[in-house]
Amino acid sequence: MDTKGKFPLDKFPKLETPFYYYDINVLNRTLDSLTTEAEKFNFKVHYALKANANPRILSIIHGYGLGADCVSGGEIRAAIQAGFPVSRIVFAGVGKADWEINLALDYNIFCFNVESIPELEVINEFAAKKGKTANIAVRINPNVKADTHHYISTGREENKFGIALGDVEKFIDAVESFSNVKLVGLHFHIGSQILEMNNFAGLCSRVNELQDQLAKRNMVVEHINVGGGLGIDYHYPERQSVPNFADYFKTFRSMLKLRDGQTVHFEPGRSVVGQCGSLITKVLYVKEGTNKQFSIVDAGMTDLIRPALYQAYHKIENCSSEKPIQKYDVVGPICESSDCFGKDVELNGTKRGDYLAIRSAGAYGEVMASQYNLRRLPQACFSDDI
Ligand code: LLP
Repeated sequence: MDTKGKFPLDKFPKLETPFYYYDINVLNRTLDSLTTEAEKFNFKVHYALKANANPRILSIIHGYGLGADCVSGGEIRAAIQAGFPVSRIVFAGVGKADWEINLALDYNIFCFNVESIPELEVINEFAAKKGKTANIAVRINPNVKADTHHYISTGREENKFGIALGDVEKFIDAVESFSNVKLVGLHFHIGSQILEMNNFAGLCSRVNELQDQLAKRNMVVEHINVGGGLGIDYHYPERQSVPNFADYFKTFRSMLKLRDGQTVHFEPGRSVVGQCGSLITKVLYVKEGTNKQFSIVDAGMTDLIRPALYQAYHKIENCSSEKPIQKYDVVGPICESSDCFGKDVELNGTKRGDYLAIRSAGAYGEVMASQYNLRRLPQACFSDDI
């Protein structure tokens, strides 16, 4: 049976709500499992900073020896500041700006994940000006189905990401015609919040097919990067606080047909930080509607946008009450109807001043916060120094 998360309620009054509460024990257990399972197969893991770039979280993740997957100049700087070695930083993204490419070249990062021939030309040109050769991996759109929300599925033909399978050889010809870029890897990513191992197996089949095709031109690249995407259990955060990395990695180990000397890379984000974070908010008012009651809280879609943007489910708990369960629509203060964390949410009887925890919010929570309505950004606190 799933139980409520355990929160240090006595410490909460000294903090301004809403705030993110990070359970460092959960984060450490997740990282222990991730690194142990990856090491079994000598898989290399680059943490996707886009999921959470809080400096404290980054420094803990860096402590486990992971590399960093960055999608902006800002993320490259944050990764370096947190101590990630430049030799383990990859830079991805469909629209890299000139200054970002130059920054990455100046830092001599490990690799650019390149998404188009025009981008390749620019990287080659900038690298030439600096007298450098940039390592690149070609991001391939594998056209593989991912059973997830359509906004976060990225590996289908209709998505803007990557080079179509049919254009890969043309891309490789282009790389070979330039002298300041070197192809070192193939990069794939099929989407996010994927719980069906079959989807990853489908990706592996595509990788194998492409490798066979490249073998015909006597080509073997050193690095195979299969992206991120492993999902978490939003409905039962206690039941599975650490994702099943063992099954995930085994799927790739058993399905991928690797050539001699190839290394496999992963870019997990959500599965690393998702379950350690909760958004803590206080109930401002309980309002009786015509057919329902609203629990109006001081957090809004500016603090956690996933429910408004993706109709994402997050489990909500009343940490302050053991009263009988009632149903509430949990809504925020923002002037948008989509500013709703959940409808008909079953909560222990709720009153003004109660603390609610919106669970599984460690990934794409704090980092996606905005100041719409000129609100303050949410603060963060950590279980080990609260
Ligand atoms: N690598 C690439 C190329 C990606 O595009 C992403 C995520 C990742 C790795 C990390 O994927 P993860 O392991 O976290 O699934 N804001 C959305 C998720 C957007 C994901 C974008 N790409 C959400 O809140 O669900």
